[in-house]
Amino acid sequence: MTRKLLEQAIEVLRKNDRGAYTVPTDGLYPFQWNWDSCLSALGFSHFDEDRAWTEVETLFVHQWDDGMVPHIIFHQHDDGYFPGPDVWRTGRKVPTSGITQPPVAGFAARRMFETATNREKIADRAKALLPRIHAWHEWFFRCRDPQGTGLVAIIHPWESGRDNSVDWDAAFQRVPTDGVEPFTRRDTQHANPEHRPTQAQYERYIWLVQKFRSLNWDNSKLHDASPFQLVDPGFNAILIRSCSDLAILAEHLEEHEIAAQSRQFAARGLAAMDALWSEKWGQYLCLDRTIGTLVDSPSIGGLLAAFAAIPSHRAGAIAARLTKLGEQVEYLVPSHDPSAPEFDSLRYWRGPVWLIVNYMIADGLTQAGETLIASRIKGDSVRLIEESGFAEYYDPRTAEPCGGGQFTWTAAMVIEILDPKLAT
Ligand code: GLC
Repeated sequence: MTRKLLEQAIEVLRKNDRGAYTVPTDGLYPFQWNWDSCLSALGFSHFDEDRAWTEVETLFVHQWDDGMVPHIIFHQHDDGYFPGPDVWRTGRKVPTSGITQPPVAGFAARRMFETATNREKIADRAKALLPRIHAWHEWFFRCRDPQGTGLVAIIHPWESGRDNSVDWDAAFQRVPTDGVEPFTRRDTQHANPEHRPTQAQYERYIWLVQKFRSLNWDNSKLHDASPFQLVDPGFNAILIRSCSDLAILAEHLEEHEIAAQSRQFAARGLAAMDALWSEKWGQYLCLDRTIGTLVDSPSIGGLLAAFAAIPSHRAGAIAARLTKLGEQVEYLVPSHDPSAPEFDSLRYWRGPVWLIVNYMIADGLTQAGETLIASRIKGDSVRLIEESGFAEYYDPRTAEPCGGGQFTWTAAMVIEILDPKLAT
């Protein structure tokens, strides 16, 4: 059974391979997405290391001069997606979006380096990527933490990777919709509209894009100009983890300055994270930076925080919370607390399970020694695939597959979880 699942997973990766990058899935997402690519590279690394490094390298070819790595690279023309290059208008030769996504590249690069069959063979490639990933991290702290708090803000929900999370609802009330140019959504033509973000949310997504475009995508202005500045614990945990992993990779490659700076970023971030802790929920919460208050929304963002090396009593509390959540759903980890009124088991990031987040939470908790709950999460993830195939996301109660099918990063995570040498 395991072997068959692995073969199917490899097939999904091959099917979505466009040569030097993969698409998340055919149809719904026809371009290269930032964190999809880096996590999908991990899947490739188990059976085609060369291809795995190419995936991340291609992404970084499109890094902006200021260090930002865009969330979408529009390699080829495709009318099936909205908003396309004509809306973003970032002026790049190969068009890209103008916002970023969770920076998993540092984590992925260290992992791919340490699991390489021949480190010497890929050392040059790792050495070339290292300063680029570091420049991205520097960009974050320069442009998304202008006050030097140690934590960065996202300025658009799409940056979080958790597009329509309940976490953004209150702040979205402050995002206007006046002047939004008329548009036709494409996502609802590929997937069930009942499972997707609402029209009201889409109008605000586009208002923000138009706002940033009006400032010529100048990242020295965007943060302060945005009415939406959210400090997401999950996003920051990914950045912190990538900084500490990049430090270790830099040590392997004898780049001591990058190592020292990366360690500093991580230490500062970890210290600052504690202000996001909620005793009430036993997890971290988002901070709405514009008004300076925590967002009372128990989402998976606050559990994903365990991906960073948070203090062990915090990891223990998150493990306990997950155990409780596991009594309410058949499959961990729901993207929102099932007892909260906003929970919606089928609507995108407002309830469903996403395998990439499961993988990162399980990895962090394993590092923290919380292996029991980590095994449950990994076991539930595999059961979801057995029941429902390689979907984009799943109902945590029934395993109903939702969104796109044959999804690249879902398949990649299965390979990561199941590998032992591809179960030969
Ligand atoms: C959706 C997800 C985002 C992902 C993208 C491509 O927008 O919310 O996290 O990167 O699809 O799979």
